[in-house]
Parts: sequence; C-alpha cells; structure tokens
Amino acid sequence: MLGPVLLAAARSDAIRRAVSAAPVTRPVVDRFVAGERLDQSLTAVRDLADRGLEVTLDHLGEDITDRSEAVRNRDAYLALAEALAGEGLGERAEMSVKLSAFGQALPGGEDIAYGNVLPVVEAAAQAGTTVTLDMEDHTTVDSTLRILSELRGRFPQTGAVVQSYLFRTEEDCHALAGEGSRVRLVKGAYKEPAEVAHQDKREVDRAYVRCLKILMAGKGYPMIGSHDPRMVAITQELARTAGRKIDSYEFQMLYGIREAEQERLAAAGHRMRVYVPYGTDWYGYFMRRLAERPANLAFFLRSLISR
Ligand code: FDA
Repeated sequence: MLGPVLLAAARSDAIRRAVSAAPVTRPVVDRFVAGERLDQSLTAVRDLADRGLEVTLDHLGEDITDRSEAVRNRDAYLALAEALAGEGLGERAEMSVKLSAFGQALPGGEDIAYGNVLPVVEAAAQAGTTVTLDMEDHTTVDSTLRILSELRGRFPQTGAVVQSYLFRTEEDCHALAGEGSRVRLVKGAYKEPAEVAHQDKREVDRAYVRCLKILMAGKGYPMIGSHDPRMVAITQELARTAGRKIDSYEFQMLYGIREAEQERLAAAGHRMRVYVPYGTDWYGYFMRRLAERPANLAFFLRSLISR
C-alpha cells in the first residue's frame, strides 16, 4: 500500500528536500548508491570485477528542467566513458542512461535528448563498451524506442529496456527480439495508471514470464533485470529448452541487492551484471527502491529509530 505513496513522493520537491537533509539518510543511501563521485564508481567496478561480476554504470540524474542540466549530464557520461577507456574497464562496464536526464521532457525534447545521447554512445563505442537506454514512465516509451532505433542504425549494440507491467510490452518484445538486439526485461518501477499498466503484482509477474518467453525464443540478447528467484529459475529452464548458450543472455541486478545471489550466478558460469548508480542526484532512484520492497523501507525506518 505504501508503494504508490513513495512513488508519488519520489516526484515531490518538498519531500526531496526533507529526505535529503535528514542526517540518517546518507548511510541508507550508501547501501544502494556506490558514491557521489566518478572515482568511487570506478572503485565499485573494480571490486565487483574481483568478484566475477560485470557492471552497468548509471550517473544519477532525471527529470531535468533546462538544457544546461542536460549538457552537464551528457558531459558526466563523456567523462565516464573516457575514464573507462583510460582504466581499461570498457570490457567490464557498460553505461545505462535515462533520456529524461538528457532533456527528453523539454520542448523539442526528443531531438535534444538524441543530440545529447549520440556523443555518449559514440564515446562508449570508442571505449570498447556500450549504452543501454533505461525506460522511464509510460509517456516516454515511444520517444525512447524511436531514439533507440536511430542509435541502433549506427550502433546496433545499443541496449533497450522493456517493462512487463505495461500492456504494450509483449508487442514491444516481439519487435525487439531480432538478431543482435540487446533487451533488458524488468517489471517496471514507476507509478502507472490502470489504463496502461497491470496493477496487480501477480499480473505483472505473469506478463514478465510471457515477455521472457518471447525474448528467450528470439534471436537477440536478453538481459534479465530481476531479483526474483522465480524469474531466474524460469530463465534457466527456457535457456535449456531453447538450446541457448550460457553466454547468449545475462542476468542483471541492482547494486546492494541480493549480493550473494549475484555471486552464486556468476560462479555458476552466468554473465551477471550489476547496475551501479553513482552521483549526487540519488533521490528519485532511492525512493523507487524504498517503494519496491517493504524490507528496504523497514531498513530506512529502523535507522531513523536507532539514532
Ligand atoms: P520484485 O520486487 O517483484 O520481487 C520479487 C522477489 O524478488 C521477492 O519476493 C524476493 O524474493 C526477491 N527480491 C526482490 N528484491 C529483493 C531484495 N532487496 N532482497 C532480497 N530479495 C529480493 N525499472 C524501470 O522501470 N526502468 C528501468 O530501466 C529499470 N532498470 C533496471 C535495471 C536492473 C538491472 C534491475 C535489476 C531493475 C531495473 N528496474 C528498472 C527496476 C525494476 O523495474 C523493478 O522495480 C525491480 O527490479 C524490482 O522487481 P524484481 O523483478 O527485482 O522483483
């Protein structure tokens, strides 16, 4: 029940200020966010690599309101790509971007976002890595898929994300299941209306399995973004029945969540990629993690009480 309230709070400036200023917030945020600085994110990449894990790095930022912020976010990713190249980490770490941080919601935003993300995708290719476009709320899906299609014309390895809670997603999976197509399947983390999205968690899970079947039967490269043990087991079963090689798909989980399971899957020979967010603009990401799981919220509340 608290989930929708927290998701609404994720978009409130007043609550953002209050939560960000609370001294207890920081240690809890640190569980989900690798740090505020680029060098901290690189340390996380090295630590995870030592444990046999791959990474996708997210420079935190979303819902910007002017063009200069979009340019700053672009530059942060350009610096990240340069650092990955300089440190020889391009094979270990790719990058995840939110187009709202690149100006997608501004007037004329699709062109602005495309203009900002293209140099990042080019820099990623030069660094020996690639970019995945995160998926945000349902109003952005068509625009994000159009930008994806443009980028794939020149950089076919650019990744997409689909969210099983949206009614449209099975169709999107069919469209994105072709040769070479890298697609991360997630359940979806935003507050969406009943006209466009399943509201019942069991329906979201059933839709996830249907999408998984489409992607695993296709010719692309599915990226299973879930901590759900059931989805992991179903993926392994589908890979067996489709005769898929173990390196023709990968698992992805978020930084700080189910770490032992991440290591277990990597040790079993799976490619396991950890989504590592870093940067100062952690509020929206943090609130979505609290909304997702009562245990995350309880951890936060306990730290308030134990002060
Ligand atoms: P869900 O929350 O339904 O939980 C199912 C089960 O998983 C639980 O019952 C429990 O067994 C286990 N589990 C879950 N969390 C756990 C925890 N903290 N500790 C222990 N067990 C736990 N969303 C989006 O809208 N756009 C995007 O671009 C992305 N990108 C993205 C990347 C990656 C790599 C991941 C993993 C997720 C995203 N998401 C996302 C978020 C996604 O939509 C979703 O909100 C979360 O992954 C939560 O859903 P799950 O499938 O993990 O399980």
